[in-house]
Amino acid sequence: MYKATKTVNIRSLFDLVRASVRRLRSWHIYVSLLVPLLFLAYDLLSGQLGVDPMRSIEKSLGVTAIYILILTLCITPFSLLTGINFIRFRRAFGLMSFFYIVLHFSTWLLLDMQLRWVEIVESLTRKPFIVFGMMGFLLLIPLAATSNNYSMKRLGKYWPKLHKLIYAAIILGGIHYLMMEKTLQNDAIITFIIIIVLISLRFFKIRKINWL
Ligand code: HEM
Repeated sequence: MYKATKTVNIRSLFDLVRASVRRLRSWHIYVSLLVPLLFLAYDLLSGQLGVDPMRSIEKSLGVTAIYILILTLCITPFSLLTGINFIRFRRAFGLMSFFYIVLHFSTWLLLDMQLRWVEIVESLTRKPFIVFGMMGFLLLIPLAATSNNYSMKRLGKYWPKLHKLIYAAIILGGIHYLMMEKTLQNDAIITFIIIIVLISLRFFKIRKINWL
């Protein structure tokens, strides 16, 4: 009896969440995902970014980018499992992650390297973590460029194939994070494990949980 009531309550809670998610619009997602940038701007303006603000900005943008990319990968398994349909927001998450990667890359190019081209070429050819980051970034460019209805229509059955590149891009981003320091950092290891688990989920047939 108690179990039955509990199940009904959880189900009605999920119904409520599903109804709220149905009311969400893409622009709500775009605006919400700008919040980390607002926090970063606030920290910068209030002098809370420590002794090397440029480095803090670079790091913060990189971490935000990789976590939004991870959220993008979570959307399909989460929606299938819970019936809370976030799939129509995948584009917003993917594009916002790309937006943060562009800002991360621009910070490196303009503030860190200050457009010193010899040093830039040297980093791009000699520093393995930069090479991996750059490869991840390059793979994401065609995905961002084709994340629109027109390209979906034009590419037809090739569109989903092309967008599988997201898995390679996020693995490269994860390796880039792992290789950042001379010794492996816990947060980079945890991030990489999350990425591998999410990619492995693709090989399982996920079904909605009965009582949801
Ligand atoms: C898929 C693309 C990328 C992702 C997901 C990504 C993500 C990250 C993450 C998570 C960090 C670690 C921040 C920390 O230490 O806490 C980072 C750091 C860094 N990234 Fe990227 N990144 C990408 C592409 C790039 C590219 C293209 C460049 C430049 C060519 C770049 C340059 C850097 C630099 C220089 C740092 C080190 C900051 C520092 O600790 O001094 N990244 N990135």
